[in-house]
Amino acid sequence: MRRDKVAIGIVGCGGHAMENLIPVLQAQADVDCIWTADPALDAARAAAARFLGCTPFQSWQEGWRAGRPDAVVVAATPQVHLTVARTALEGGVAVFVEKPLAVSREEAVLLAQCAATTGLATMVGHNLRHTEAAREFHRIVADEAFGQALAMEMRYFASKPRGDRWGLRNPVRSFLLSHATHALDFMIQLMGPVGRVEAARAATCRDTITVSAQLGFGEGRMGNLLTTTAAPHFDFRASVIGSNDQIARIEGTREVSLVGAASDRKRWSRLWVDRTLNTGYASAGYEAELALFLTAVRSRRPESARPSFADEVAVYDALEMIEARLLA
Ligand SMILES: NC(=O)c1ccc[n+]([C@@H]2O[C@H](COP(=O)([O-])OP(=O)(O)OC[C@H]3O[C@@H](n4cnc5c(N)ncnc54)[C@H](O)[C@@H]3O)[C@@H](O)[C@H]2O)c1
Repeated sequence: MRRDKVAIGIVGCGGHAMENLIPVLQAQADVDCIWTADPALDAARAAAARFLGCTPFQSWQEGWRAGRPDAVVVAATPQVHLTVARTALEGGVAVFVEKPLAVSREEAVLLAQCAATTGLATMVGHNLRHTEAAREFHRIVADEAFGQALAMEMRYFASKPRGDRWGLRNPVRSFLLSHATHALDFMIQLMGPVGRVEAARAATCRDTITVSAQLGFGEGRMGNLLTTTAAPHFDFRASVIGSNDQIARIEGTREVSLVGAASDRKRWSRLWVDRTLNTGYASAGYEAELALFLTAVRSRRPESARPSFADEVAVYDALEMIEARLLA
């Protein structure tokens, strides 16, 4: 760190950056955003105006030449994510990248390999795992009393985006990169890497996609994922069955329950609910994920930034297995 603050550059100043990432970064006392970049210069300007002494650029290469930050925060397209992340790592700069990290597993592996030799913090923006509810859910499942997580089901329902994205000319991959990545990260964090997949796509209705996938984890443990873009609004739920006759459930970002923990196991469950006044950024996990990343950069402890690029390879392994089954 060249000063007492973490200097950052922001690449991509669209909806997600402006609505979620930048408000959280603005609230961090020890963040100094030195430049923003977006081909839409007005967007870069609007983002830069949120920080003191921040310069907007029309390309991230101009920003990079103007001043090397300690970290870049990237929220653009998977193609841009790959190029910026690679350049940043080669230049000794930590990287936070929104999902999808890249277009393919091959590219994700390349980035993980680049990161491995640098000792820099890398992180992929899977905010769901950082919600308070998800962290509570994770604590329950990791508890000795829960036993081994035998099986998991997850429903991940979205309303958009639909159709092709990022010029991929591949609506299935666009869908998997947009949605299944979050759900797979959530499942893999709890159950471990996926070794085997069965998957099918439901009948198409307009330009929506609905996919059902059965995932085989290690040691005969399994999971089911149902994901769609045909929902009226975003919603996710998951359950995990433990080997000690307990079931943990998460209902979106607000509620977690555990059945089978109390002495009266048939009639009682333990219920965790989010605090009433928790703000959207805390509730949605954006605060926690960026705080974790910035702490890893500041403390030079890259291993505490998770999911890292290396972690993300397991998501792409599963994603490409699902895609292969859908296209078979
Ligand atoms: N984790 C989440 O909850 C979440 C939510 C929404 C979006 N996202 C992800 O964030 C990313 C951005 O999504 P969005 O909704 O903001 O999209 P968007 O289209 O609103 O914004 C993307 C921005 O990137 C800019 N851009 C394109 N090429 C660029 C380049 N070479 N250099 C710099 N900027 C460039 C575009 O001009 C645009 O302003 C996507 O990867 C998306 O999947 C994550």
